[in-house]
Amino acid sequence: MNETRTVAFVASERDRACPFDPSPDLRRMREKDGLPRVRVLHPVLGEVEAAVVTRYDDVRAAFAHPRLVTGNGIDPDQPRTLYNQPGFLLAYSGAEHARLRGMLTRSFTVRQVERLLPTMEAIIEDHLDAMEQQGPGVDLVEAFALPIPSLAICELLEVPYATRSMFQRCSQVIMSGTADAGQVIAASAELHAAMADVVARHRAAPGDGVLGTVVRQHGDELTDEELIGFGITLLAGGHETTATQLALSVLALLRHPGQLAALRDDPGVTATAVEELLRHLAIPAPVLRTATADVEINGQPVAEGEYVLLSALTANRDPALVPRDPDDLDLRRRPVTQLSFGFGVHQCLGQQLARMELKAALPALLRRFPTLRLAVPESELRFRTGSTVYGVEALPVAW
Ligand code: HEM
Repeated sequence: MNETRTVAFVASERDRACPFDPSPDLRRMREKDGLPRVRVLHPVLGEVEAAVVTRYDDVRAAFAHPRLVTGNGIDPDQPRTLYNQPGFLLAYSGAEHARLRGMLTRSFTVRQVERLLPTMEAIIEDHLDAMEQQGPGVDLVEAFALPIPSLAICELLEVPYATRSMFQRCSQVIMSGTADAGQVIAASAELHAAMADVVARHRAAPGDGVLGTVVRQHGDELTDEELIGFGITLLAGGHETTATQLALSVLALLRHPGQLAALRDDPGVTATAVEELLRHLAIPAPVLRTATADVEINGQPVAEGEYVLLSALTANRDPALVPRDPDDLDLRRRPVTQLSFGFGVHQCLGQQLARMELKAALPALLRRFPTLRLAVPESELRFRTGSTVYGVEALPVAW
C-alpha cells in the first residue's frame, strides 16, 4: 500500500468484489504479526504516518488504552471546527472528558430513548405512507434512511426540522474525510451559528429534550460554547451514522433474500439481526488515536507521539471474535461484543438510540414493501469510501 489515502479509507477499505467485506490489503495486515505503518491523509494534520491495528483483541485493547487518546482538549490558537469546539466529546480525554460526558449519559440510556419509540414509529409510518404514494422508484436514502434519524435527533434536541438540509450538508462536509480545512471551518461555522440560537432559547426557557435537561441540571457548570458543542456533536453524529447504517443494511439484506425474509417475517429475529448488521457492516472509521507515552498494544510497541488507526471492520470479522464463518451475514447469530460503536470511554453515546431506530425502521420497511428490490444494477451504486462513515450515496429501490 504505497499511495496516501484518507484515514477513513485505510481503516475501512472494502473489497472490490463485495462492498461489505474488508479489502485484501486490510486482511493481509490482520494476518501478519506486528502493527504495519501506513501514510494517511488527515483533514487537519495533513499527511501523517499511522500504525494500523486490525486484530480484534488489539483493536479492543487500543480503544480502551488510557494513553491512546482521541484529543487533548481544545486549542484556542487553532481554527474553530467541530473537532476543535468546546463540548465536542472526542476532543477530550481523562477527567475532563468524563465530566462532560457524564452530563449527557442519562439522556441516552435504553429507558430514556425508549420513550421516543412511539414518536419514531409514527414518523416511520408517515414516511412509508409517503413512499407508497410516490410509487416504486424512490431513493431509499432520501425518502427513508436519512429523514428517520434526522427527525429523531431534531426531536431530542428540539431543533427545527426545517434546518435539516443545512445540517445534513454541513455534517457531510465535516465527516467527508476529504474536505479541506477551509471547507470544514466554513461548515462548522454554519452549524455553530444555528446551534447558538438553539442554546440561547434553552438558556431562556429550557425544554424537555437533551439540551434543556442539561441546562436545567448542569447549566451553571457549562459555558454556552460547551452547550453549543454538545448540540452540534449530537446533531452531526446522530443522523448521518444511523442513516448510513440503515441504507447499507437494506442493501445487505437485498443481497441475502433468505436473511431478509427472516427479519421481515419473524419479529423474534429483530434484536440479533440489528447487532449482526452492525457487526457485519462496521461502517465507522474511528478517529485517529495519539500515543501520549511509549505504549504496547498486546506486546507491540507504539512510541510516544505516534498515531494509531483502529479498524473495527477487520476486528468484527476476526475469527478470534467469531470462530464460525465470520464473513457471513447470519441474522440469528448470537451477539458478540462487536466494535462498531467503539469501545472504552468514548464508546458511542448514541448507540441505544441508533439500535432503537434500526429495530423499529428495518422490519417496518420490509413488511410494508415485501417485494422490495434494487431499481438499478448494483454496479451503478456509488459508495462513500473516504468518509468517516462508509456508506452508499443513494439507494434506488422499487417494489
Ligand atoms: C449506527 C449508528 C452509529 C454508529 C455506527 C456510531 C459509531 C460511533 C463510534 C465508533 C464512536 C467512537 C469513536 C471513537 O472512539 O473514535 C462513536 C462516538 C460517539 N457517538 Fe456514535 N455512532 C452511531 C450513532 C450515534 C448517534 C445516534 C449519536 C447521537 C445521538 C451518536 C453520538 C456519538 C457521540 C456523542 C460520540 C462521542 C462519545 C465520546 O467521545 O465520549 N452516535 N460513535
